[in-house]
Amino acid sequence: MEEKYEKIKKIVEKEVQGLPPSHDFSHIMRVYNLCITIAKHENNVDLEVLKIAALLHDIARKEEDLNSSGKVDHAILGAERAEKILRRLGFDKSKISNIKHCIVSHRYRGTNKPETIEAKILFDADKLDSIGAIGVARSFCWQGENKAQIYSKVPLKKYIKENLAGAKSNGKIKDKSKHSANIEFETKLRHIPEKLYTEKAKEIAKERMRFMEEFFERLKKETEGKA
Ligand SMILES: [Fe+2]
Ligand SMILES: [Fe+2]
Repeated sequence: MEEKYEKIKKIVEKEVQGLPPSHDFSHIMRVYNLCITIAKHENNVDLEVLKIAALLHDIARKEEDLNSSGKVDHAILGAERAEKILRRLGFDKSKISNIKHCIVSHRYRGTNKPETIEAKILFDADKLDSIGAIGVARSFCWQGENKAQIYSKVPLKKYIKENLAGAKSNGKIKDKSKHSANIEFETKLRHIPEKLYTEKAKEIAKERMRFMEEFFERLKKETEGKA
């Protein structure tokens, strides 16, 4: 088995090459490690399915990023690409189908919801990587990649109305240059703990959220010259 993991790791490493720091290979490995941590607190986890799904979950990220039509969903395309890779490596049908379910349902805004324990763990691990110190770091990377802002003073309601599709807090961003790290925190990242499935992930999220709240409070004070 180890040999297969290594093979898949190499394929993924090559596939995600050139992606910005918010979504590079280190994200894959952080998610992989978090999956193992969470799995220790759950019963009847197929670790093989979980580990492979973690490695392959963002395999089609580049296609989605490069396609400006907004029609490519890296979770759906990723599951298809994973199937081809796993067939080539000789995995059986039921393993492939379980791994595909994990990949297709890992998205925060996706319509496919995780149903198996492996899919729930992968979902949670992927979301945990968006919060805490790493979440702050990744958010600033994203703002830089998209020429957005470090801090924005625009009132939240006004921002949501003007810059999020459907004036919904989970709507798609219309003009990325108007986005900022604190707005990302208020509209999306702050709500991540409510979306998690497993108890261990919820516990980790609590601690990460405490840190983020303190960080953004301090950022506000420093931006306003008050600290
Ligand atoms: Fe993803
Ligand atoms: Fe991911």
